[in-house]
Amino acid sequence: MTTQATTPRDSPAAPPALPPARGPLSEDVLAALAGSGTRLPAADAVRRSDPYGDDLQLLLYVLYELHYRGFAGVDERLEWDPALLGVRAAAEDVFLDALRRGAGQGGKNVAEAVDELQLEPVGDDGHSVSHHLRREGELWQLREYAAVRSLYHLKEADPHLWVVPRLRGRAKAGMVAVEFDEFGAGRAENVHAQLFADLMTDLGLDARYGRYLEAAPAQALAVVNMMSLFGLHRRLRGALVGHFATVEITSPPGSRRLAEALRRVGAGPAAQRFYDEHVEADAVHEQVVRHEVIGGLLEDEPGLAADIVLGIEATGHLEDLLGDHLLAAWREGRSALRTPLKP
Ligand SMILES: [Fe+2]
Ligand SMILES: [Fe+2]
Repeated sequence: MTTQATTPRDSPAAPPALPPARGPLSEDVLAALAGSGTRLPAADAVRRSDPYGDDLQLLLYVLYELHYRGFAGVDERLEWDPALLGVRAAAEDVFLDALRRGAGQGGKNVAEAVDELQLEPVGDDGHSVSHHLRREGELWQLREYAAVRSLYHLKEADPHLWVVPRLRGRAKAGMVAVEFDEFGAGRAENVHAQLFADLMTDLGLDARYGRYLEAAPAQALAVVNMMSLFGLHRRLRGALVGHFATVEITSPPGSRRLAEALRRVGAGPAAQRFYDEHVEADAVHEQVVRHEVIGGLLEDEPGLAADIVLGIEATGHLEDLLGDHLLAAWREGRSALRTPLKP
């Protein structure tokens, strides 16, 4: 049974269309998903590809998306197709190796890595998108930023749920407490993904799920692919927790700057609400994640310390790459997207 058979096309639950390919590897995979081709990339070709390039990142993104909402016209059974899972595994090896290299060999312990996240630089270090947007961001840059971030925020907190069955005790209770808030604490209108959709509408963007996949640069796909990678593999549960901690701990100051930026350009109340909400909620979440989730996991499985640090450092690494990409384009006055937004 395919998705199209069960979901009306105009329903908000309708899956997005498949995006266009970005190279030979993603081309073969997309053809397989569409049912128009049977050739899949050889593991060798995947291993030789650029880990952060458009082709490999899109390949990973579309294969991971089968575990979320899928795509229109794609057979739902392909989620567990052994040949596609084999291609994904080869791509994940390439990606994870690059993340390990990017995360560095700092040899930090968990407390040091978390402390560094909390030691927010007061000024702009030249890499920070939120500093730039607060200080001098223009409306078109905020719209591009929202379009890029929509890949994650429209499925906010979803990839982190996969870790729950792999935890116990304090780590599990803390994780679920934070996720409960992310999913609106029982109220659909307060689900963070919905708040982000409202922000997009306020900014004149199309808030449908997956709408900006085609426009998003590889650096933006990589950030979301990392969450899916860490979330889907039990062996990477420590990295998922480290990643989640990074998101929650760095969110309040970054969200404060983005709320200011939106106020400055005169965006509507829904646009501001998303970030205002995160300033408040994440101040609590960061404490729960640090003391209960990380603390509880380390108490249970002290051997995961290096993986928690990996999750923290890899997140910083990919966020730097994305920030550099966005700022380089904006400083030259050009779009950071693959296809510029319509005004
Ligand atoms: Fe959130
Ligand atoms: Fe949060």
